[in-house]
Amino acid sequence: MRGFVILLVCLAAGSAFAGTIGVSNADPFAREGRIVGGEDTTIRAHPYQVSLQKKNSNHFCGGSIIDAYTIVTAAHCLVGVKAEKIFVRLGSTLYNEGGRLVAVRALAYSENYNSKTMENDVGILKLAEKVEETDDIRYIALAEKTPETGTPAVVTGWGSKCYFWCMSLPKTLQEVLVNIVDWKVCGSDTYKYGEIIYDTMVCAYEKKKDACQGDSGGPLVAENLLVGIVSWGYACASNLLPGVYTDVPSVRSWINSKSETL
Ligand code: ARG
Repeated sequence: MRGFVILLVCLAAGSAFAGTIGVSNADPFAREGRIVGGEDTTIRAHPYQVSLQKKNSNHFCGGSIIDAYTIVTAAHCLVGVKAEKIFVRLGSTLYNEGGRLVAVRALAYSENYNSKTMENDVGILKLAEKVEETDDIRYIALAEKTPETGTPAVVTGWGSKCYFWCMSLPKTLQEVLVNIVDWKVCGSDTYKYGEIIYDTMVCAYEKKKDACQGDSGGPLVAENLLVGIVSWGYACASNLLPGVYTDVPSVRSWINSKSETL
């Protein structure tokens, strides 16, 4: 079912957010959804979170700030995107106003990104201006080791609060608490994905709670470290189908070396 799954999950990714979200294909697994199951939060609680936007504050993906010039996001957010056409909003609870809107000098995504399997779904942006830390803007460190299955984690974003018939994104940052599921467990019989989960991925699960379309590229944080990048999922908050994230420890060396040269 690999092709089918990938097709459904990230259809709305990349350029689809013009402030509205289209209706997705019928999906036997998806039911109601609420960042599905999350609640309003503030940027001060998650000061590493950023919104990637096209003009007119059109949010299309999330990201995380890791140093004064660098944002980590998903590769699938950057395919076909030109640096000069996008902006990063930092330090704001609302995606459409406040904080700082900074231009992008350069972007790159992993040469090993595979859009069919979603392996190595990682990219970075270099900001056109230096961004210092404040109460609302903080750099997050990259995890070196995937936390154990069961470790509590938080995922945040301005993505859709449901999978079907969601016409607009929440303006206020949402957070949802989930639990880490390592790639082996995620691909085991406990869950329904099977062999499509690779070792460059990490999953996170909680019943009826998940990231969703528009959260991509955003942070999955555990133990105050960036452990995952929102990547894909079968619909959102589907029973026994965890959210799938790029495993940060697996792509850490790519991030670090690209960040030095870009
Ligand atoms: N690919 C989606 C995006 O571009 C993210 C999907 C995450 N889905 C999930 N069920 N966790 O926004």
